Amino acid sequence: MDRKNILCIGAGYVGGPTMAMIACKCPQYRVTVVDINHEKIARWNSDDLPVYEPGLDEIIRATRGKNLFFETDIEKGIRESGIIFVGVNTPTKTFGAGAGKAADLQYWEKTARQIREASESRKIVVEKCTIPVKTALAMERILTSKDGDIRFDVISNPEFLAEGTAMRDLEFPDRVLIGSRETPNGIEARKAIVDIYLNWVPREKIIESNIWSSELSKLVANAFLAQRISSINAISALCEKTEADVGEVARAIGLDSRLGSKFLNASIGFGGSCFKKDILNLAYICRTYGLDDVAGYWESVVDINEYQKERFILGILNAMFNTIAGKRICLFGFAFKADTGDTRETPAYTIARRLCEEKAELVITDPKAIDNAKTDLADIGGITYEPDPYKAARGCDAIAVMTEWKLYAGLDYRQIYDSMTKPAFIFDGRNILDHKGLHEIGFNVYPIGKPPLVHFT
Ligand code: NAD
Ligand code: UGA
Repeated sequence: MDRKNILCIGAGYVGGPTMAMIACKCPQYRVTVVDINHEKIARWNSDDLPVYEPGLDEIIRATRGKNLFFETDIEKGIRESGIIFVGVNTPTKTFGAGAGKAADLQYWEKTARQIREASESRKIVVEKCTIPVKTALAMERILTSKDGDIRFDVISNPEFLAEGTAMRDLEFPDRVLIGSRETPNGIEARKAIVDIYLNWVPREKIIESNIWSSELSKLVANAFLAQRISSINAISALCEKTEADVGEVARAIGLDSRLGSKFLNASIGFGGSCFKKDILNLAYICRTYGLDDVAGYWESVVDINEYQKERFILGILNAMFNTIAGKRICLFGFAFKADTGDTRETPAYTIARRLCEEKAELVITDPKAIDNAKTDLADIGGITYEPDPYKAARGCDAIAVMTEWKLYAGLDYRQIYDSMTKPAFIFDGRNILDHKGLHEIGFNVYPIGKPPLVHFT
């Protein structure tokens, strides 16, 4: 088996950047990325990459055609590679048993069967995608269900990168987790994966574990991160009732070294393709083991996230005299977070739909996500999309900040105020603006979890 040939099945947000980093740091390996989506592969081979990540273009330019290849022949890739990463999507199931909760494993399962059919020699199969704990067992069963003596070792190597900072996270990871069966073959296969990362990750940051701990740790990491956001968002609601300031509370608690200061920004709620799906999946797994109380605990993290979005919409309605019908509201940002064009599960999507239900006229601006926004909201007519925030806000009654793009903090708000309908409102769903300064200009300012600054008595 050629362990210097690496294949990744799935050329998405994880497969593309992850393999680009491996190719960049390990010139002695030949890395191939394949996908069933041929259009996506064509874009990976062009200047218009299918994923926007700061720093990704440079790495792709440096490695593509040298030791990084984007191809469509999946079977050839399987035959020629000793190490196969699986980075396909594992969305929430939308049908049948576990609909709306369990992970939909059909893409992952097809991949396992394809690897089994095309393999002619020993393979190390690496779970890169996020899957339920015990998936490796199912993977092993599929891989070994054909007559023959080909050896397959399944390794769990979950990915912890966050979008917008993917290249930095990949280059300087907090840790790399590699789990395997604790058999001589399993440990030997695990070492082959450790050896890849050793090309740039310090040894002490590479953690080895049993395969089930590794699979479960990924779900748990996302659940804990999301729980932190729901915790501070729940407290933001209490702050608004008590004149406490959630920023000050976050700072005060974050200085406790046991808690730490990161991931305490109150917001309109977490978005992204993974937090909700992974928590619901974790809760579903708990229920299948009869752990209903544990499942309920984790589900409440998602409930608070929904509550926070609805609270934001009701706050807009309440502030704007209980009607926004016919009023022009500009959404600053549509991506689920800054520095990405990704809009999967973005809170802006729910908020945009709800505002349209209230018959507001929407204008959406975003530096990277306008195309995705247009696709996501294609069924709603009458929305204006405008990349320039100054033009977008012109003639609007209100601005609602959806995404924490740095550029929104640096705009000339006096100019924006002058161009808006009065009274002018700003709802800062990310607490990134200078609220006092905006109030002095004339805006009625509604942050999250802080007292509003208004001109009405
Ligand atoms: P994605 O949808 O961007 O990419 C998945 C790709 O797999 C798609 O291009 C799809 O066409 C392809 N695919 C599906 N079935 C295939 C098959 N049978 N053969 C070949 N290609 C196939 O998804 P993503 O965001 O890259 O996420 C992939 C996995 O990584 C998920 O399990 C996710 O939970 C996990 N993850 C995602 C992130 C993130 O930031 N997006 C971070 C960590 C982990
Ligand atoms: C998250 C995790 O951070 C990654 O470790 C993980 O690999 C990834 O999910 C995954 O499995 O997909 P990501 O969703 O890309 O990464 O981005 P985050 O930075 O975690 O932000 C998620 C959401 O939470 C965003 O909508 C963000 O705006 C929001 N957020 C984040 C807050 O509202 N407040 C905060 O303090 C931090």
